[in-house]
Amino acid sequence: MQQTSPQAGDQVTKAVVPVAGLGTRFLPATKSVPKEMLPVVDRPAIHYVVEEAVTAGLADVLFINGRGKQALEDYFDHNTELEASLRAKGDEAKLRLVNEPTELAQIHSVRQGAPLGLGHAVLMAQQHVGQEPFAVLLGDDLIDAANPILERMLQVREQHGGSVLCLMEVPREDIALYGCAAVSATDEDDVLQVTGLVEKPPAEEAPSSYAIIGRYILDPKVFDVLERTEPGKGGEIQLTDALAALIDMPVEAGGGVHGVVFDGLRYDTGDRHSYLTTVIRLACERDDLGPRLREWLRGYVSSEMPSAD
Ligand code: G1P
Repeated sequence: MQQTSPQAGDQVTKAVVPVAGLGTRFLPATKSVPKEMLPVVDRPAIHYVVEEAVTAGLADVLFINGRGKQALEDYFDHNTELEASLRAKGDEAKLRLVNEPTELAQIHSVRQGAPLGLGHAVLMAQQHVGQEPFAVLLGDDLIDAANPILERMLQVREQHGGSVLCLMEVPREDIALYGCAAVSATDEDDVLQVTGLVEKPPAEEAPSSYAIIGRYILDPKVFDVLERTEPGKGGEIQLTDALAALIDMPVEAGGGVHGVVFDGLRYDTGDRHSYLTTVIRLACERDDLGPRLREWLRGYVSSEMPSAD
């Protein structure tokens, strides 16, 4: 049968990853190292995000970057000097590690110019993305590879058209850290119709406990809306506000917003505490590092760990 809605069904092939943030929560390290390059075990955080996009079939990755983010592009590019030196030593194992990020994806980048907010960052992708639906992945959120969510979000986009958010229930007192969605049920347990959106509401004003997690499938209509979106919370152009405007637009015009409920493991590398717990958890799960680390941790916790007082 002929596709009736031109929006539903369009292939998603591109991922947009905003990386222009200053990373002030990790100063002084981030004075000269982009926060996305901080190692999570032995790979920079950005590696996990790009790998997640590629695993979902989105190998065209656009970084929206800013000043001082050269290290990201270098990481995904060849380092001929290092490769030649490893080759000369016959160190194939390290050579494979060095080449892995280079072969992972087709990386593109565009500069945001000024830090005017997440909505503004996404608008910078317009020329590269064109008229196709696309994914946005925020680098502070790492989704455990054992519970991928992008594939399910792509299916929901395929089914319903419009835009698709990743929603996670969080404790009420935490909702002020996130975009929050008012929702109603659909026929499928893990899919919600989004009926309202508000960026970082105080707990007592939040319409639900559903927080937006940093994964989005967006209809290109979002660009038109972002062009007209005024600065919102924190004086920044908010993606959440543009999505709120899409809710009541007809699907044929690129409107409509659904949420996929995520109940897997998500690691927040955006602040120091959760960054540290992420590194420990992921290292504990690794076959090469886990057994020794777990044993050491048990001993440390039971005998050496300083008490709170
Ligand atoms: C951004 C979005 C927010 C979303 C969050 C997810 O906020 O504006 O709606 O819930 O990412 O991580 P940020 O964390 O960049 O302040």
